[in-house]
Amino acid sequence: MKVQLENITLAYGDAVAIKDLSVDIADGESLVLLGKSGCGKTSTMRCVAGLETPLSGRITIGDTVVFDSERRVDVPPNKRNVGMVFQSYAVWPHRTIFHNVAFSLRQQKLPKAEIRERVRDVLDLVGLTEFADRGASLLSGGQMQRVALARSLVMRPSVLLLDEPLSNLDARLRDRLRVELREIQQRLSLTCVYVTHDQSEALALADRIALMQNGRIVQIDRPEKIYDAPFSASIADFLGVSNIFPCTRVASRENLSVLGLTGHDVEVLSRSLPTGPEGAAEGSGAADPADPATPRVCIRPEDIRLLTEPLPEGGNNWLGKVEVVSFQGSYVRYRVGLKGGPELDALVPRHGSALLPVGTPVWATAEPTAVQVLPAEVPA
Ligand SMILES: Nc1ncnc2c1ncn2[C@@H]1O[C@H](COP(=O)(O)OP(=O)(O)OP(=O)(O)O)[C@@H](O)[C@H]1O
Ligand SMILES: [Mg+2]
Repeated sequence: MKVQLENITLAYGDAVAIKDLSVDIADGESLVLLGKSGCGKTSTMRCVAGLETPLSGRITIGDTVVFDSERRVDVPPNKRNVGMVFQSYAVWPHRTIFHNVAFSLRQQKLPKAEIRERVRDVLDLVGLTEFADRGASLLSGGQMQRVALARSLVMRPSVLLLDEPLSNLDARLRDRLRVELREIQQRLSLTCVYVTHDQSEALALADRIALMQNGRIVQIDRPEKIYDAPFSASIADFLGVSNIFPCTRVASRENLSVLGLTGHDVEVLSRSLPTGPEGAAEGSGAADPADPATPRVCIRPEDIRLLTEPLPEGGNNWLGKVEVVSFQGSYVRYRVGLKGGPELDALVPRHGSALLPVGTPVWATAEPTAVQVLPAEVPA
């Protein structure tokens, strides 16, 4: 079912946690709320679930207005048909898995045969059929998280809210459950709001990502769109772009502009420069990294190539030295110190070749098209 949040503002005492937030979630869509700790992700969820009362705004689930500050509508949580799965599993350890999952259906006093069938279907869906009669305390973390998911799904919620459900699990299990979750969500065409501060989880699970900062959504789009064109350097940073430097405009010629970093020049396509007051300032003075008006040069690690043969100086060829080598299987991540200070992160496909040892002089290079110039923050 579709979910609409309109102009939601929520405060805890004097502290405003969500500011005038609006978002439409389509029927069957998986929306991921992504952002730093304290940006308001959990608060947004809790408003949808009815666990917090916003100061103002309106929330609609399907065609039902469940909250409206003006008309004083506030449907209680248990009448909203919203399922929630949290970071902690909240599974009863002394009961069987079947009992854990069946609990809410039994409370609704559904016929026994129906309960059995629904629990079986859902355990099948999350891959726990053979564990139905096992005590929940005997489960691994990943299995418990599946029980928690099954318990929500068995209620056939119109919307499923998941708040960092995988963050207590180890990395490999998290990767696997992430794919399973996405599969279940797509198979059931379930409307989902998923909270995480893990960017790779967000990219993998979302139909759309809503990036939150300070209680606001600052960018919302399909994962690949946000990844390709973040609105600000802080969003790029959040999505794993590690090469971010303050810059000033040094010169422009034809369709290229030259930007100055500490001791180095970077060429970019002029049309990719931000315009307006926050655009790359003309001048040769040092860029002030603390000044939010100073634009940032952003280059993805995978867009930097490393060569051991000399390249001509200038034109986005920078001489440096390998400082850190981190082997990542099919890729190698290099940290390259450039003359005079700045360090570049390069993610290089390995193709079976030997690794460059620490101390190797290398030329780092990036196409002007791969360089983005972004404002430090999205203007409020
Ligand atoms: N019960 C509460 N009382 C007072 N302030 C709160 C309460 N819950 C959250 N806050 C504040 O509201 C803001 C948003 O909190 P919220 O829990 O929504 O963030 P979050 O994005 O979920 O963060 P995290 O990633 O750490 O879970 C924070 O500044 C937080 O300190
Ligand atoms: Mg939270």
